[in-house]
Amino acid sequence: MRWILFSAIVVIILSLYLFKGYRNNVCKTFSDYYTNTDHNENCYYNPDAHLKVDEIVKRRGYPVEVHNITTEDGYIITVFRIPFGKKKPSIKEKARQPVFLLHGGVFNSESYINIGNKSLGFLLVDAGYDVWLGTFRGTKYARNHKSLSTTERDFWNFSFHEMGIYDIPAQIDLVSDITKQEIIYIGYSLGATNAFVYGVTYPETARKKIKAFICLAPAAFLYEWKSPTKHILRFWSYIEPIAEYFTNGILYLRLPHKLRSILCLPYPFQMDICQFVDMLLWGFDYEQSDPETLPITLIQNSDAISIKTFSHISQLVINGRKFQQFDYGQNKNKEMYGTKEPPIYNLTEFRVPVYLIRSENDFLVTKENIEKLNSSLPEKVKPYDIYVVRNERFNHGDFVIARDVVPLLYNHILDIITKF
Ligand SMILES: *[C@@H]1O[C@H](CO)[C@@H](O)[C@H](O)[C@H]1NC(C)=O
Ligand SMILES: *[C@@H]1O[C@H](CO)[C@@H](O)[C@H](O)[C@H]1NC(C)=O
Ligand SMILES: *[C@@H]1O[C@H](CO)[C@@H](O)[C@H](O)[C@H]1NC(C)=O
Ligand SMILES: *[C@@H]1O[C@H](CO)[C@@H](O)[C@H](O)[C@H]1NC(C)=O
Ligand SMILES: *[C@@H]1O[C@H](CO)[C@@H](O)[C@H](O)[C@H]1NC(C)=O
Repeated sequence: MRWILFSAIVVIILSLYLFKGYRNNVCKTFSDYYTNTDHNENCYYNPDAHLKVDEIVKRRGYPVEVHNITTEDGYIITVFRIPFGKKKPSIKEKARQPVFLLHGGVFNSESYINIGNKSLGFLLVDAGYDVWLGTFRGTKYARNHKSLSTTERDFWNFSFHEMGIYDIPAQIDLVSDITKQEIIYIGYSLGATNAFVYGVTYPETARKKIKAFICLAPAAFLYEWKSPTKHILRFWSYIEPIAEYFTNGILYLRLPHKLRSILCLPYPFQMDICQFVDMLLWGFDYEQSDPETLPITLIQNSDAISIKTFSHISQLVINGRKFQQFDYGQNKNKEMYGTKEPPIYNLTEFRVPVYLIRSENDFLVTKENIEKLNSSLPEKVKPYDIYVVRNERFNHGDFVIARDVVPLLYNHILDIITKF
C-alpha cells in the first residue's frame, strides 16, 4: 500500500514536470508564475540556474580564473577568482585588496554570484576588490581526491574540523602566495565556523595572513537554536547509523540540485512548499522572498555535506554550551584526544580582528548564540560591537537570498570593509 502511494506521488510529480514545458524560468512577481511564462513579458529565461561558477561569472562579463589546489590530506579544491571588474584596470591602479569569500554549509560558492547584480561577489569586484570564491571538501567544487573516490566511505569521513585545519589553510596560502597581501575573509554560517577552527589552530599564521574576519551569522555556539528542527536533531543519533549505512557518509540535507529542480520548480505551489521547508529551518520571512531569483537560489544553494559534519553541528546544538571538537563518546575520545571530553576550540587564542553580523529572525545563529561567541573572543580582536541587520524579519538564509540584501546588508559590508 505504501509503495503504491509512493509510486503514485512520484508519477504525478514527474508528469507535472514533463507537461510543464515552459522555457522562461524566472518572473518579476510571484503572480506571474501562475501565467504561461513564455507569453508573459515579465518573465524571462535565466541560464544561471544551470551554470557553474566560472560560467556564470563569464556570462555576466567578468574575468575569471580557476585554481585547483590540493590540501595536505589530499582533497582537491577548486577556488575561483574574479581578479577585476568588467573594465580591465589601468597599469597605474594599485594592487587590489584580496577578499576571500566562504559560503555556508549545504551551499557552495555559487551562493555568492547567483543573484545577479545583487550578488556579494560582483558587488565587491565592482567596488575594486580582488574576489576569491573558496569552498570546502564535499561540495561539487571539491569532490576530488588524490587517492580516494567519492564512493568510498573514507572520503566522507570529515567534519568542519578538517575543513578548518586543512581546507582553509590551503586556500588562504593560495591567495596569499599569489596576491602577496593580507586577506579579508568573509565567512557565512559554517564558512565562519571554519574560520574560527583555522584561527585557533594556527593563530600566528592567521594573524600574519588575514587582515580581518567579517562573519555573517557565524555558527560557533548553537545551543540556543530556535528552529523547530531542533526536535528532529534529538533523534539524529538514532538516524545517523542508518543514514551512514545507505549513503557512505554523504548527506544531501536539501536534496541534490537535479531533484530539487523537479520537486521545487515546475509549478508555483512547489516553490512555496520548498520555501516553507527552508524557512522551518532558518526562520520565516516572506517579505524578503525574491521572485526574480528564488527559482535559482532554491535549486542552486543546495550541495552535499558529510554526515559527520552534520552530526558535529547537531552535537553543538544538543550537547550544551560548548564549541568543541567532534564528540566520539567517552571511550573513543580518550583514544583520540587523550581526554574523556573533546577539546574545546579555545577562542581566546584568536588573534585576527573580527566583525560579527547577526539578524533578528535567524533561527540558528540567534542573539544568545552570537553573544556567547562575542564574549568568548578576546577583547582586543573586537574593534566594533556586533552589528544587527536593520530588519526584524531577516532570517538565516536572507544573508545570501533576500530581495533587499543590498540595502539591508551588502552596502554595510562595503562600508565596514574599508575600515580594516
Ligand atoms: C580543476 O578541477 C576540475 C574538477 O576536477 C576540472 O574540471 C578542471 O578542469 C580543473 N581546472 C584546472 C584549471 O585545472
Ligand atoms: C541591477 O540591475 C538593475 C537593472 O539593470 C538595476 O535596476 C538595479 O539597480 C541594479 N542593482 C544593483 C544593486 O546594482
Ligand atoms: C573516521 O576517521 C576516524 C579517525 O579520524 C576513525 O577513528 C574512524 O574509524 C573513521 N570512521 C570511519 C567510518 O571510517
Ligand atoms: C585558552 O587559552 C588561554 C590563553 O592562551 C589559556 O589561558 C586558557 O587556559 C586556555 N583555555 C583552555 C580551556 O584550554
Ligand atoms: C561584545 O563584546 C564587546 C567587547 O568585549 C562588548 O563591549 C560588547 O558589549 C559585546 N556585545 C554584546 C552585544 O554583548
